[in-house]
Amino acid sequence: MALEELVTELKTVWKFDYEPSIKALRDLYETAKKEQWNAATDIDWTRDIDKDGDILDPEQDAFRSFDFVKALPEDKQKELAVRRAAWTLSQFLHGEQGALLCCGQLVEVVPDMDGKLYASTQVIDEARHVEVFHRYVQRLDRVYPIDPALQTVLNAILEADMWQMKCVGMQVIVEGLAMGSFKIMKKGTSDPLLKSIVELTAQDEARHVSYGLIYMKDEIPRMSGPDRDRLEDFAWTAIDIMAGGGRRMSSQAELYAGLGIDTEAAVEELRERFRDPKQRANRPNAFRQYVIPQLQRIDLITERTAPNYRKLGFEV
Ligand SMILES: [Fe+2]
Ligand SMILES: [Fe+2]
Repeated sequence: MALEELVTELKTVWKFDYEPSIKALRDLYETAKKEQWNAATDIDWTRDIDKDGDILDPEQDAFRSFDFVKALPEDKQKELAVRRAAWTLSQFLHGEQGALLCCGQLVEVVPDMDGKLYASTQVIDEARHVEVFHRYVQRLDRVYPIDPALQTVLNAILEADMWQMKCVGMQVIVEGLAMGSFKIMKKGTSDPLLKSIVELTAQDEARHVSYGLIYMKDEIPRMSGPDRDRLEDFAWTAIDIMAGGGRRMSSQAELYAGLGIDTEAAVEELRERFRDPKQRANRPNAFRQYVIPQLQRIDLITERTAPNYRKLGFEV
């Protein structure tokens, strides 16, 4: 099976002061220990997936209103909807692995014992998430390859030379996106199995986001000017790669194979529609609803970087 290696420079930090120093993180560590669940036994895997229903929120799935989709016979539209759901959930599966790798790094790189202890609980949380999504996606259809834009961001986080970049990149941006998306999915899916999965995972992701917010709220004001600028730029670049509409659509071309779709025309229509910020404005969107407000809460969107966000259609 495919193996991909990444050589990263990690500064591994020992901490010999074991006394709690960041109370909110220590409390979160206690909560995390209490709220463990088991992906093998706490999910009712005997349930069948209702593939005729809405796996993804119809409102979230803009595809349905697109000309190239509406032109298909109904059975092909259904097949495409299932593939789309499997593609999207495959990205979450790969994202979960990225989170697993990243919080393993956080155990090593963060300078506080409370930060290390908490991150250790997240390692097992993410292992569970990899397990549940893999199981679900395989049942639904198959695991699709990682989207190049997502992998670029995850690699940048894993390779980052500042622990604060890992913390903001993973815990605030990627975790915020996961938590928001799972909440939106929970509301929109008609499949009870997926609903139960995203309900449990969203609870964990909310904790993971809290870790990032608690830690970074205190840390960012302490950072030097140049480091802080680098962190702001890192956050902006990650958002631009992931939310910069249209650009990632081409990687989904393999979804259309065998359905009689004119792939080129489809990609062009997607680009066109997603380029228009108004198209996205009224749809549930985890960036707008969760990630951007979180970056604002830790003061990481400044006068210097705000115009970049506005260009993408975010009101900041
Ligand atoms: Fe996760
Ligand atoms: Fe997470």
